[in-house]
Amino acid sequence: MLEAVVYNREESRLELLDQTLLPVETRTVFCKTEQETAKAIVDMQVRGAPAIGVAAAYGIVLGLNNPQNHGKPFKAAFAEICDLLASTRPTAVNLFWAIDRMKKALSGCSDFAAAAATALTEADAIKAEDIEMCRSIGRFGASLLKNGETWLTHCNAGALATAGYGTALGVFRAAREQGKKFKVFVDETRPLLQGARLTAWEMVQEKIDATLICDNMAGGLIRDGKVQGVVVGADRITAHGFVANKIGTYPLAVLAKYNGVPFYVAAPDSTFDMTIKYGEEIKIEERDHDEVRYIGGQQVAPKEIKVYNPAFDVTPPELITAIITNKGIIRPIYRDTIPQFIGADTKEAGA
Ligand code: MRU
Repeated sequence: MLEAVVYNREESRLELLDQTLLPVETRTVFCKTEQETAKAIVDMQVRGAPAIGVAAAYGIVLGLNNPQNHGKPFKAAFAEICDLLASTRPTAVNLFWAIDRMKKALSGCSDFAAAAATALTEADAIKAEDIEMCRSIGRFGASLLKNGETWLTHCNAGALATAGYGTALGVFRAAREQGKKFKVFVDETRPLLQGARLTAWEMVQEKIDATLICDNMAGGLIRDGKVQGVVVGADRITAHGFVANKIGTYPLAVLAKYNGVPFYVAAPDSTFDMTIKYGEEIKIEERDHDEVRYIGGQQVAPKEIKVYNPAFDVTPPELITAIITNKGIIRPIYRDTIPQFIGADTKEAGA
């Protein structure tokens, strides 16, 4: 199984499949410190909500093993490590969920060596559970995909974006394992092309029948009846079912609703932020303007042009047919259906 986030025990380092270079180059990034891990998250060498949570958990292990921290009082050093990793990307709640979980696991620790050992056990558990949750999402999601259908997906919610298997792409993996015949349209997903570079790559590796389209082609395809379902991942889902996901998700949901096509969100329970209710409460990351002015290092717009570059948008619950979770399919999305599935106290604090 494809694993984008691997902790190498012999070398005490985190090994990340560099997602900025795929599919042209397959290169591993080695992180020995919490600073290197934080940089890899900011630079999106590792990306996707669950994957950055897993990477941050291992980043804490690296921080606790980092001799530069050993001269400081334990509690202050641990807080600094957690704060650094939490400052990397603001929208995906899995990052904060993983850091909170590490804090809880280490609450009784007071020395670096014991804490590092406990942290590694907890990070391994977070990773293993994420893979299990993805497999479960896949099984539930595959029950919605009928033989012969064509579905559309946006961005990359695959093995690369998780500890393995994927959420939205886990649905396709599970459907294939069940012997279903189906096709997939893959949105290229500007500005950083996670669909073209990463989802298309995963589909080719898996030999799933997939067709790449530019983002602006989705509307015509949906109107022409060529798409029977849309499935995307999520970066944060509020208690009332507002979903933050890759920019361009909201217009797809509108198109799907207008044309009577089911719109599904696939996410593990670590993506739910039960401390907030509405979309406006989600902090949307804004990224470097050159991500829009350039494509793959090639300038495509005047350097002087003003740019707006939010990394995510928010889809309201009335546009979502169902949310496919590891615990089952939530449908319809009402304010009380999510707590019933997820539990009201999944998170202590969002970011
Ligand atoms: O900016 P990215 O590439 O980290 O955004 C990723 C997404 O929006 C994914 O759809 C989401 O994290 C779900 S991944 C299972």
